[in-house]
Amino acid sequence: MRALVFVALCASLAVGDPQCDLSSALEKFDCFPQDSSNEEECIERGCCWRDTNEFNGEPRKFPPLSEPFCYYPRNYQGYKVLNQTSTEGGLVVYLERVFPSLVDVDISLIRVEVIHQSDEILRIRFVDPLSRRWEPPLPAPPPPKENVIPKYVVRITDDTRLEVTRFIEYHGGNKLIDLDLASLVYTDHFLQISSRLPSNVVYGLGEHKGSLRRSTNFSRFTFYNEDRAPEYNARLYGTHPFYINIEPDGQANGMWLLNSNAMDIILQPTPAITYRPVGGILDFFLFVGPSPANVVEQYQQMIGKPKMIPYWSLGFHLCRFGYKGVDHTRQILRSNLDAGVRIDVQWNDIDYMEDRNDFTLDKTHYKDLGSFVDELHRDGRHYVLIIDPAVSGSEEPGAYPPYDRGLDYDVFVKDAKGQVVRGKVWNRKSSVFPDFTHPNSTAYWTEMISNFHEEVAIDGAWIDMNEPSNMIDGHMDEGCPSDFEIVYTPGDEPLKTKTLCMSDRHYWSEHYNVHNMYGFTEAIATYHALAAARPRKRPFIISRSSFSGHGFYAGHWTGDVFSTWTDLKDSVPGFLEFSFYGIPMVGVDICGFNGNTTVDLCARWHALGAFYPFSRNHNTDDALAQDPASLGEKVVTVTKNAYYWRYKLLPHLYTLFYRAHVDGDTVARPLFFEYPRDSNTYDIDEQFLWGDSLMVVPALHENQKTINAYFPRGIWYDLQNRTATVDAPLQGKYITIPAYEDTINFFMRGGRAVFYQEPGDTTTDSREKPYGLYIFLSHESYAMGELYIDDGESIDAVENRENSLITVLANDREILLGNESRKPIDNQLDRIHFYGVTAKPTGMTVNYQPFTDFQYDASRQILTIYNMDAALTFITITITYP
Ligand code: NOJ
Repeated sequence: MRALVFVALCASLAVGDPQCDLSSALEKFDCFPQDSSNEEECIERGCCWRDTNEFNGEPRKFPPLSEPFCYYPRNYQGYKVLNQTSTEGGLVVYLERVFPSLVDVDISLIRVEVIHQSDEILRIRFVDPLSRRWEPPLPAPPPPKENVIPKYVVRITDDTRLEVTRFIEYHGGNKLIDLDLASLVYTDHFLQISSRLPSNVVYGLGEHKGSLRRSTNFSRFTFYNEDRAPEYNARLYGTHPFYINIEPDGQANGMWLLNSNAMDIILQPTPAITYRPVGGILDFFLFVGPSPANVVEQYQQMIGKPKMIPYWSLGFHLCRFGYKGVDHTRQILRSNLDAGVRIDVQWNDIDYMEDRNDFTLDKTHYKDLGSFVDELHRDGRHYVLIIDPAVSGSEEPGAYPPYDRGLDYDVFVKDAKGQVVRGKVWNRKSSVFPDFTHPNSTAYWTEMISNFHEEVAIDGAWIDMNEPSNMIDGHMDEGCPSDFEIVYTPGDEPLKTKTLCMSDRHYWSEHYNVHNMYGFTEAIATYHALAAARPRKRPFIISRSSFSGHGFYAGHWTGDVFSTWTDLKDSVPGFLEFSFYGIPMVGVDICGFNGNTTVDLCARWHALGAFYPFSRNHNTDDALAQDPASLGEKVVTVTKNAYYWRYKLLPHLYTLFYRAHVDGDTVARPLFFEYPRDSNTYDIDEQFLWGDSLMVVPALHENQKTINAYFPRGIWYDLQNRTATVDAPLQGKYITIPAYEDTINFFMRGGRAVFYQEPGDTTTDSREKPYGLYIFLSHESYAMGELYIDDGESIDAVENRENSLITVLANDREILLGNESRKPIDNQLDRIHFYGVTAKPTGMTVNYQPFTDFQYDASRQILTIYNMDAALTFITITITYP
């Protein structure tokens, strides 16, 4: 049969066949995704072969990828449309395989379910109608809305493509996706589908190191969670198969593939995207935006919006691997406090454990950890420690409850024969892995964390090594019994590398299917455990591994980055991409994790790190100490300066986290989010914004003296009073600004108003201070802003409405404050700094009473109102001019 097909096709696809003569190389879609393509097998697949000779006859290997040798001809028809039926909520299309893919055994009948999820969200599922395939139970998108009026149009074309365009009346009819159904490959362990994209402006597809805007030059993104110090073009800790695309007219759309199997995603210059998961189903969600912020919000409607974080977690966190004991930890903390560095949270790494076993204390050096933590609490500070998922599997029965109780609960991952799997993580002899998909796992984990909490009153959990990471490939002694037969390996490295065996069993499914969800499911169990151990308080969790939906429960840090200038620069896109995935609480190890930092690098990194949403200095045990005090005067000065501003602006940052929680807004965001029609912003990933009001312009390069900063259209005010106000009335502009050694540049956007509190030593102290308000007038002479207030830690403050939302609206003659909740707020409003006031006021009233305590700085056009002592509720201020 194969031979016959081959003969038939050789005839039909001879060299020079017009079906193979694509107008441009960019039109070529890969018909032979495995890395050993050859002409004979290519032709046998019904595809075209053009050896571009780039590889001198060697079998093609990647990366780097390039134009495929073996590609689909114009008239390729692997599947054809059998029939299509409109349903109440969408469309059902049946596809029948008419020509074999020869990649593996094809599934001959596919049902495509097109579901109008909402006016702006379209779901497209490719399922096997005859047999149920693996689908991740979480995150669980809500059911489709009723009475949907789609803002898009779906069409199956005569040449077997599924096209979705914007609804022409309102949105100009841009084509958003164009899925090629004819070249679909759908086998048990390999699926492939391609879609053309509206443009080559693509973001997301993380977790991957590199520029924020993804290259479409045959670039490959592998989604298979792995413990690996971040490298370009490599697998990394998290899986978020979600992209944002900016169309040529500045509108934005996005797409998410809900699939937990290992996969490659390829971007090619057509521009187009190709998905290659090695299992599960194809379950796409298309988001029509039309702004980038809308796209991200729509994505979070499906995966969940992040829960509120505790206020204290916005303070500075100090950590390292290699503290020698409680005394050493205390001493480093003290030396930094004495140097004037503000620290809210102290952390400990695995050093605290006895024999590196979770939930134990090193009897010699860490036995007093509990009282140290009580001491921190007395001073208004908080404490977080590391918990690895794997627990020791080799302690004497009765000696180590985490193992014994895990067996009682039957929660450890098993092999195909039903035996508990033993790998090797940090534990001395062997490690066993809780299966967080198991229904008993939450009870087990809660028992472990609650018992430990009685000894050491931790405020949060740092969950590491949860890809899951293993220091060997598979099981102790025998590796992996017989690896899965797979035709394609995403990322080219065996899937068992430094993790479990694909055949291992979790409650939900084989490891093969749930690998990418390990950290996510651990975060869920940890969330419930902390909520039980600390009743009514918000759990705080920072996790290394993540999956779509992770932000609902936990934050993230970007793992083992290097103490290099390149990694400092890459840290900006590294943390920013998590804003796209609904994980706003994210940061990078300040000063770098691996290798020795330097004073200059660490100074720059601390300045930037003060503006990471999650701000923690952490490094490895074999590198030099890199806390500010250990590095000396320069790092201390820069840290103090930068964190002065961070702490001062925390009321604003916290308000952004509130907006992320209720509305799915981003906290830190790239410039293109606010200016999607300004194509100058598309490639900018060395600057970023906090919300829509504050732009950070860090110095990221060695010996940098100036920064060529981009100021989008508008007015930009320098709160630090070192750079003149930047006025870009008509369009954005580049301006060269000094890269001061002791401060980081940041600018406030005209048209916005931001609240602050003078910083105390900790966020606990700062929260006692009166509020101040900055107002920055725009060209149109208006400004607006808001402030969210609650007790900073109750788990249900938002749901119970134990909170307040203050709004402010201003023009040059009037400032109006409102309090939606009318709840009395303990702290008064003390000062207002009004930027952009062009003339000297002659008089003022506050709540209709004359008020005289104000000053006008004519050179900087700032009006300051002092000693207002006003209750933060409805306030009306009027300003008069000559
Ligand atoms: C790996 C983590 O990425 C790192 O932050 C930590 O210090 C070490 N594990 C030791 O726990």
